[in-house]
Amino acid sequence: MDIKFLKRSFFQRLLGISATSKPEIDDCWSYANGKLIIDLSKASELKTPGGAIRIEGNNLSKRVLVVYGEDGKYRAFHNRCTHLGHRRLDPVPGTDTVQCCSINKSTYDSGGKKIFGPMPHPIVRYPVEREQENLIISIREELK
Ligand code: FES
Repeated sequence: MDIKFLKRSFFQRLLGISATSKPEIDDCWSYANGKLIIDLSKASELKTPGGAIRIEGNNLSKRVLVVYGEDGKYRAFHNRCTHLGHRRLDPVPGTDTVQCCSINKSTYDSGGKKIFGPMPHPIVRYPVEREQENLIISIREELK
């Protein structure tokens, strides 16, 4: 498989600045009882295939990357590269991969399996369901 790399500057990669933003409307999501719920009517970033947002903070214990794939499927990942820097991830346009924002560019397939780079493990992919205008993402604790 050919690996595509997201175009980022050296300094963006050195500093680990991800290309994916937090949602423009803060209250487009909520989290309770292991369920992250995103109101798609407020999450404009997820209206077009290829879009993505990163959800983090408040009472959510994990950083989550949510991608609206170019294949029309929603995917959610633990937004933490398993390589030692534990940087954030971004979707790579024209592919269904996600890639670490760091210099080493660890890259994972749509299932979270590693396909390029120094990371030791796959990333966790969370189940996503759509109910009307809500995306419901089940955040489970990782096994230690
Ligand atoms: S932190 Fe992701 S490749 Fe190093």
